[in-house]
Amino acid sequence: MADVDVFAGVRLLGPPEADGEYIALNDHETVHLHEYARIYAVPGLYEHVVQELLQCTSPQVAAAGFLRAVERLGLEPGGLTVLDVGSGTGLVGELVRGGGVARVVGVDALPAAREAALRDRPGVYADYVIGDFQRDDDTLREALRPYRLGGLVSAGAFGGTHATPRALENALALLPADAPVAFTLDERWMDESDPEGFGVAVAKAVAEGSLEVLERSRFQHRVTTTGEPIFYELIVGRTASPASEG
Ligand SMILES: C[S@@+](CC[C@H](N)C(=O)[O-])C[C@H]1O[C@@H](n2cnc3c(N)ncnc32)[C@H](O)[C@@H]1O
Repeated sequence: MADVDVFAGVRLLGPPEADGEYIALNDHETVHLHEYARIYAVPGLYEHVVQELLQCTSPQVAAAGFLRAVERLGLEPGGLTVLDVGSGTGLVGELVRGGGVARVVGVDALPAAREAALRDRPGVYADYVIGDFQRDDDTLREALRPYRLGGLVSAGAFGGTHATPRALENALALLPADAPVAFTLDERWMDESDPEGFGVAVAKAVAEGSLEVLERSRFQHRVTTTGEPIFYELIVGRTASPASEG
């Protein structure tokens, strides 16, 4: 990982523009915070901006929630292969591996994310597949079929400019019954009066029996470039047991 002095010229720009937040990489270059391909290309830059400057906690919160679900379900983490949805540079994979999970398979829509994770965290992922959970075709399902996935963890990948509820539905559908899951969701997208939002998607998954919620909590995901807190929800649960499947 690059020395932090390399990032001496990196500055948060504020207040956010209508299309989101920006950071200055140096005196000449400005990037949108979600211009991931550009940010992932520089070793350690994502971690410096998002984890250090913007105090993002979602990877730690999601990984800890996932490991609590594993314990609560009486599973042995050393026997699990876990799907990390929107795995980015590999922070979440590294944390769950550190918690004893045997194998993690990362999936991200961006080739630059895979390159960054393999470059900066070699050995963390059993495989890292480039794929988009929004797509309803079988490409991703087929790519993941050999892995016998036994759980799902995801941090910061759903909501906003990221994946939609359809992607969550598609990711949950890859799991067997009784699998531990933990994911974080932007609370701005949890309003249950919004038919397109995650609040409705989670309620529907629970009503249909594809998800049982074990824990639901609010936490500070990060701050904006001007220091205002952004709150997310952590959902910890398990996929339906065969007896409750409709
Ligand atoms: C905010 S980053 C979080 C990365 C990592 N989980 C972490 O916490 O450090 C969100 C990641 O989700 C990925 N992503 C967004 N929508 C996706 C989708 N539909 N399918 C797969 N990956 C997606 C993005 O490419 C990006 O790398």
